[in-house]
Amino acid sequence: MPARLVIEGGTPLRGEIQASAAKNAALPAMAASLLTAQPVALENVPALADVVTMGSLLEQLGAEMSAGPDGATSLQVTRVASHEAPYDLVSTMRASVVVLGPLLARTGVARVALPGGCAIGGRGGRPIDQHLKGLARLGADITIQNGYVEARASRLKGARITTDLVTVTGTENLMMAAVLAEGVTVLENAAREPEVADLARLLTAMGARIEGAGTERIEIEGVVELGGARHRIIPDRIEAGTLLAAGAITGGDVTVTGATPRHMTATLAKLEECGAALTVDGDRIRCVGPERPQAADIITSPFPGFPTDMQGQMMALLGLADGLSKITETIFENRFMHAAELCRMGALIETEGSIAVVRGVKAYQGAPVMATDLRASASLVLAGLAARGTTEVSRVYHLDRGYEALEKKLQSLGARIRRVG
Ligand code: EPU
Repeated sequence: MPARLVIEGGTPLRGEIQASAAKNAALPAMAASLLTAQPVALENVPALADVVTMGSLLEQLGAEMSAGPDGATSLQVTRVASHEAPYDLVSTMRASVVVLGPLLARTGVARVALPGGCAIGGRGGRPIDQHLKGLARLGADITIQNGYVEARASRLKGARITTDLVTVTGTENLMMAAVLAEGVTVLENAAREPEVADLARLLTAMGARIEGAGTERIEIEGVVELGGARHRIIPDRIEAGTLLAAGAITGGDVTVTGATPRHMTATLAKLEECGAALTVDGDRIRCVGPERPQAADIITSPFPGFPTDMQGQMMALLGLADGLSKITETIFENRFMHAAELCRMGALIETEGSIAVVRGVKAYQGAPVMATDLRASASLVLAGLAARGTTEVSRVYHLDRGYEALEKKLQSLGARIRRVG
């Protein structure tokens, strides 16, 4: 039987825990190694299934990868050996698509399987249309055939690109394509996520000329060649938020260290609104949970708005609140899959389209539940920590994609959680 997490709920979590590095910064940083023949040395890369998947993909594309202590990961693509991101990898990890821009910019050709099939993805079934539209603006010839996108260009040319919506990996892909293009590219309506700014820092260290990353307008002046660099990945604001929410939901007292609070303002404000007492001191964030959470409304939106990747965890918390909360998910369709599972634990949640109405209950009961995606899994783990009795969360491989040693971290805070199977 695949691994499950068994949680005996009801223990308030207490103590200090170090934030890991951000998955969503590490993945594009690894892909950036495709842009140069020189080594790219990354520090603090988290040990996650998605990082392993990205490593395998890059090795197939010609990267030599070596790993040292504390997440030190060196990648060198002396020669690109293949132009293709195959379906088996892209279908397990949508973020594989971030190899498209750098591969095309470095070699003039890239083939990437269409992601499809992602449970939380895709408006109108064209979830990477903005990436492709932008690359076409940079002069790439794009064809879609047999489930693959093929992009070709002898040398990309700078252009003004305004995406129809804010897309994180889309912005990253276009930024990585534009750094080697001829002339100036302006990305309007760019994603402002800290992970985008982190990637820009790495690219700049490699010799790229980028201004405005972290704002909605990024200007990139193409260069002919990039070199190697050393770069430390930023802390994971979603993991840190999840650990603080674990403190809040159990009425505990948890301090996350090594975090970047300014990346987390929306999450921290919402935890406070729910009644948690927060103290920020440098890179340390302390969260003392309320006796019972207060109700609050949440609308997910691109950074600096409330992150969709914290929506499920907050739903678990609000499910125990005194009162009625409304959660509006504006980023992904079909990202309420945890709601039905929370209801199996006694939550009262009704969803309709992009809105969930959460009627707080006094307690959850432990139950067998099934994880459906990464953040939904985290939501169920939080509910299990607060529940009366035993919760068994199955399909934890979703959790392993994006949380480094989560059950060990929770154990160190006093949680009664163990992995079986
Ligand atoms: N979209 C399109 N067309 C596009 C691109 C996006 O319609 O060409 C839509 C998407 O379908 C979605 C919305 O735009 O409805 C936003 O998607 P975005 O492209 O911003 O998402 P992403 O880049 O694929 C990243 C994170 C996600 C996170 C989202 C939103 C990485 C590797 N992934 O995904 O992280 O939820 O941004 O912040 O950076 C996670 O870590 O659990 C996770 C899913």
